[in-house]
Amino acid sequence: MGTWSVAREMPPAKLPETVVLSLGGSVFRTGAGDAEYLRKLATLLRALAAKTRLVITTGGGRTAREYIELGRELGLTDVELDEIGIDVTRVHARLLAALLGPPVPPVPAVSLAEAVRESHRGTTVVLGGTEPGHTTDGVAALLATRLRAVRLVNATSVSGLFDRDPRKDPKAIRIDRIGWEEFRARLVRVGRGTPGQEFVFDQLGAELLARARIPIYIVDGRDLGELESALLGRAFQGTRVE
Ligand code: UTP
Repeated sequence: MGTWSVAREMPPAKLPETVVLSLGGSVFRTGAGDAEYLRKLATLLRALAAKTRLVITTGGGRTAREYIELGRELGLTDVELDEIGIDVTRVHARLLAALLGPPVPPVPAVSLAEAVRESHRGTTVVLGGTEPGHTTDGVAALLATRLRAVRLVNATSVSGLFDRDPRKDPKAIRIDRIGWEEFRARLVRVGRGTPGQEFVFDQLGAELLARARIPIYIVDGRDLGELESALLGRAFQGTRVE
């Protein structure tokens, strides 16, 4: 009885900050130096997990797109194509979870509820997609909102948001800082994603983060120094959406 009343009078435990990382599939697997990159990434993430709560979503990248294209040629529905994409993102999640090792659960969470439960237990959470209709950026945004994350880092294959596609136009200029309204307007112009569609961020995810005022930091995921700075909330080369 006495112990109970003492426990009730204790202030709630101060939890470490939550940071969400959306790791694009294009970062995960490029076909060059992937094993070395992933080993270094795992070392960085383990060190970070000692200071913050980490939630990581892994994208499907080229592998997902190849299967989606094949399925489309065969006449599969959009929902079926999304489900195939989700399975590929989960392969990547399983790989990263295995690399990070215990206490990260080896089988990626398949729902937001499961991911939230795992995060509340205090472990780093690694997962792929959840439902058809969005991307792993969307999953990352849903979890960032749900877990009241301080920031969402979008690790992608380009070093931020550009005024034009930097892979097509070498004169493209990076936008270092962009407000929510303009960012949303750009997403609306691109429209709702179809399975396997490439764009810098998911529309649903951007809406959620804008409403919750959770900043998105877009950074080149292969540049581990910049990625670390972005995850820690320090100055980095990339784009801040805030
Ligand atoms: P990704 O998250 O990899 O999408 O999911 P992406 O836009 O291709 O991103 P990058 O290139 O990896 O950064 C791959 C596909 O899986 C389906 C969608 O079809 C998506 O395009 N998916 C993924 C879902 O339907 N739901 C999810 O929660 C996640």
